[in-house]
Amino acid sequence: MQNKTVYLNGDYMPLNEARISVLDRGFLFGDGIYEVIPVYSGHLFHFQEHMERLEHSLASIRLANPHDRKQWLKIITPLLDANQDQSVYLQITRGAGDKRDHAFPEKIAPTVFVMCSNIVPFHGKNTGIKAISVDDNRWGLCSVKAITLLANILHRQQAVEQGCEEAILVKDGYVTEGAASNVFAVIDGILVTPPKSNEILSGITRDVIVELAKKNNIPCSEEIISLDALRTADEIWITSSTREIIPVVEFDFKSVADGKPGPVFQSMNQLFQAYKKSMP
Ligand code: PDD
Repeated sequence: MQNKTVYLNGDYMPLNEARISVLDRGFLFGDGIYEVIPVYSGHLFHFQEHMERLEHSLASIRLANPHDRKQWLKIITPLLDANQDQSVYLQITRGAGDKRDHAFPEKIAPTVFVMCSNIVPFHGKNTGIKAISVDDNRWGLCSVKAITLLANILHRQQAVEQGCEEAILVKDGYVTEGAASNVFAVIDGILVTPPKSNEILSGITRDVIVELAKKNNIPCSEEIISLDALRTADEIWITSSTREIIPVVEFDFKSVADGKPGPVFQSMNQLFQAYKKSMP
C-alpha cells in the first residue's frame, strides 16, 4: 500500500496508521458525505464551488460543518504536491456512537478524513470509451454527495462486466447522469445536459463546461434527454473531476456517430485544458 500522509481528526499520519472505530456511522450506515477536488500544479480547482457543494451536502444530512472554508484550506494544503496533478478526497461522517442505532446519537464528534491522490490520466480520453444504459434505481437525494454509494457501484460494476467503462443511468425513460459522472450529448447541433435536480449530482466539471460553452458561442442547453435521443446523438460525453471530459464512442453496443470522439468534444476539451492552465 502506498504509504502517503493523510489527515484524520486533527492529525496528519501515514495512511497505514489511520484508524477509525467500527462504530463509526460511516462504516455502519454510510452516514456521511464526501468531496473530490482536483488540484492542478498545487492549485485547488474551483475550491469555493466544491466547498459550496460540501455545505449543501452537510446541510442536507443535518450535519454541522466542522470547519469553515479557511480551516479546510489549512487542513488540505500540507497534503498537496505542486509537481503533480492530484485529487483531494475529503470525507465527513457523523462519527462513532456508543452503539448501533439508526437515529442520530447526541453530541458526537464527526469523523473527518482527507487524503490526496495523484491523478493518473484516464486512458479513454483520446480514444473514447464504451457505456451502457442502466435503470437508475437510486434514492431521491442524488444532489447530496453521500458516501452511501452502493447503487452507484452496482451500476458501474454492471457496466464493467459488460466490457464498458461507465453506466449511463436512466429514470422513466430519461437520462439522469453516469454512475460517477455527469452526461452531455450533442443533439441536432446543440450541446445538451440534464438540468440540475435532486436526481443528479451537480458536477463542478459540468458547470465549468456549461460556462465555457456560453462564453465560446457553443449552443448549449440544460434540458432533459430521453434515452431514445441519446441513442441517436452525434456525441456523448461523461464528465467528472477525476476524468474531466471523456467521449463515449460506443453506447449500448452501437457506435456513437462514426465511433470516434466528435468535433464538439475536441473543441470543448481544448477550451477546458486552456481554462485549467489559466486558473490562478
Ligand atoms: N464523482 N455524478 C456523480 C454521481 C458523481 O459521482 C460525480 C463525480 C459527478 C461529477 O461531479 P464533479 O464534476 O464535481 O466531479 C456526477 C467523483 C469524482 C467520485 O465519486 O469519485
